[in-house]
Amino acid sequence: MKGSGLRKARAEAPSNIAIVKYWGKRNKELNLPLNSSFSISLEALRVDTEVSVEDGPGTSRLFIDGEEVTGEEFEEYAGRVLEAFRRLYGDFHAVIRSKTNFPKSAGLASSAAGIAALVVALNEALGLSLSQIELSKIARLGSGSACRSTTGGFVLWEKGTRDDGEDSFCYQVFPETHWPELVDVIGIVGRQKKKVSSRKGMLRVSSSPLMECRLKFVEETLPKVIDAVRRKDEGEFYYWTMRHSNSMHAVILDSWPSTFYLNDISFALIERIQESGIAGYTFDAGPNPHVFTTEDEAEEVVRIMREVGITEIVISRVGPGPKVLDSNR
Ligand code: DP6
Repeated sequence: MKGSGLRKARAEAPSNIAIVKYWGKRNKELNLPLNSSFSISLEALRVDTEVSVEDGPGTSRLFIDGEEVTGEEFEEYAGRVLEAFRRLYGDFHAVIRSKTNFPKSAGLASSAAGIAALVVALNEALGLSLSQIELSKIARLGSGSACRSTTGGFVLWEKGTRDDGEDSFCYQVFPETHWPELVDVIGIVGRQKKKVSSRKGMLRVSSSPLMECRLKFVEETLPKVIDAVRRKDEGEFYYWTMRHSNSMHAVILDSWPSTFYLNDISFALIERIQESGIAGYTFDAGPNPHVFTTEDEAEEVVRIMREVGITEIVISRVGPGPKVLDSNR
């Protein structure tokens, strides 16, 4: 299985936006979630990652858009993924170069796409031929939401119940071709790094008495969300998308100390989209709205976004999963 010399592989992977959100862990080392989540992989927001691997000990390095990532940030994300591959392959070291086509740390899930691209590229470079399900478990160790970026279309992350996390993985529920009219109108409201990362923010859920209620809500309504997508029922889908975003942000506000991810523009948009009846918004841990609508209503959603002061807008369709772009194995 082992190779000789320097081996390179390049892969790209989508960012994903959760409709039913992951917020809260039952194990923080293994990133095991308190609830299952459901997301959409995005065609327009992608990360391209190249890895160069060599057997044996050595220093691994990570560059994102040319800037080196070191210390805790390296260890807690890419470092955990490298460790998982070493357990399967044996010792090796890697130089990783990632390019994003969207702002990092602005709530557009750049780390999810980056980690998914990394696991796919390492799988290729090391010649391991792991399945998508296995890759999703490794991606999860790097960052929970990254496991949903290991496939395309509409994706379910089963929370699992085992302590070792072997039943906490992701799979595709519907392919990217399932609902071709659906688009995500994404507003870039803030490019600044968040004050509290999702990783830190979600450790505070134990302080929120609303959390118990949220977990019950997710359990009861996740099948309804999936069913709305299955039937391509726009109204139902928009409704549940907004309710699930609000539910997570309610817990975030109720946690102590509270975190503030949404800003005045986000709230103005929430009000306008609810009134419009033609779309549904969702927000991750940041102020940037993802507004789902159909192709023919996208222009109206863009107009509403501009009215509340959003000038930078990206429109994405539901996208495919990761792809190996290059390999010299
Ligand atoms: C708000 O996946 O970034 O985007 O597992 O600690 O790396 P870690 O957290 P992360 O959290 C994402 C939270 C979210 C909701 C979601 O994507 O489901």
